[in-house]
Amino acid sequence: MTPVELFRNKDHVCLMFTDMVEEAGVAVQSNQFLVVDHDQAAVLDPGGNLGFNELLLGIGRHYPPQDLTYLIASHADPDIIASLDRWMTATKAQLVISKVWERFAPHFTKNGKTDGRVIGVPDAGGRLPLGDTELWLLPAHFLHSEGNFHFYDPVSKILFTGDLGVSIVSGEMARTPVRDIAKHIPRMVGFHERYMVSNKILRLWVNMARQLEISMLVPQHGAPIVGTAAINGFFDWIEKLQCGVDLFDQRGYMIPTSQVAGLTGRVLASRKTV
Ligand SMILES: [Fe+2]
Ligand SMILES: [Fe+2]
Repeated sequence: MTPVELFRNKDHVCLMFTDMVEEAGVAVQSNQFLVVDHDQAAVLDPGGNLGFNELLLGIGRHYPPQDLTYLIASHADPDIIASLDRWMTATKAQLVISKVWERFAPHFTKNGKTDGRVIGVPDAGGRLPLGDTELWLLPAHFLHSEGNFHFYDPVSKILFTGDLGVSIVSGEMARTPVRDIAKHIPRMVGFHERYMVSNKILRLWVNMARQLEISMLVPQHGAPIVGTAAINGFFDWIEKLQCGVDLFDQRGYMIPTSQVAGLTGRVLASRKTV
């Protein structure tokens, strides 16, 4: 399927690929992004191995993958960067990732593939040159990963929010921008209650994000949130949300007594006799 064109002018393009893992069925829908400015380009949150071939082909229709300048990872989860080995082979791009993950990411690759190719971003973030512009790497630690960045594109005014603002939907639904935040919150709440770390962090992030001029919030799963009313509605909702450690108490830390459904003793015994 063709990517969603989030933004285009003559020098700058933002594309969203939404349906690379759909066929596998068991993996959560994920979005990957290509940002091109003048003669340079970056892939944001390139993803896992499931959709790698298709994504590489899809990107190749818009920019030569071997010329990519950066692979930029919001954090180090499997759906963000498990395909790193293949990207390191197919391109000459630098990996841009939190310093927290800088020495863990090479575990995704064969020996030596990341040598001299990792730009570790300090906790404070920074502005990364791309073509004639800069991508802003905004601190988003603990939303949900310990070392986590969001990406603000000052040309398109898009804020790429990784796992914040996520909705668990199909690839087709991910293509449809959300303007009615009240209707959308039920699709987001369960994920944010479990995957975000605490209300304190959400409030700190909202205080920072409200200072930006934002055309859309684009998460790494599900649909973009578009327009001032929906974006402000998202801020109003998320800064009040109780989540993560706010919701855990001693009941969540008890010695378990129920069984995890696994192989039964009988199956194990019969296998032994084969
Ligand atoms: Fe994640
Ligand atoms: Fe994710």
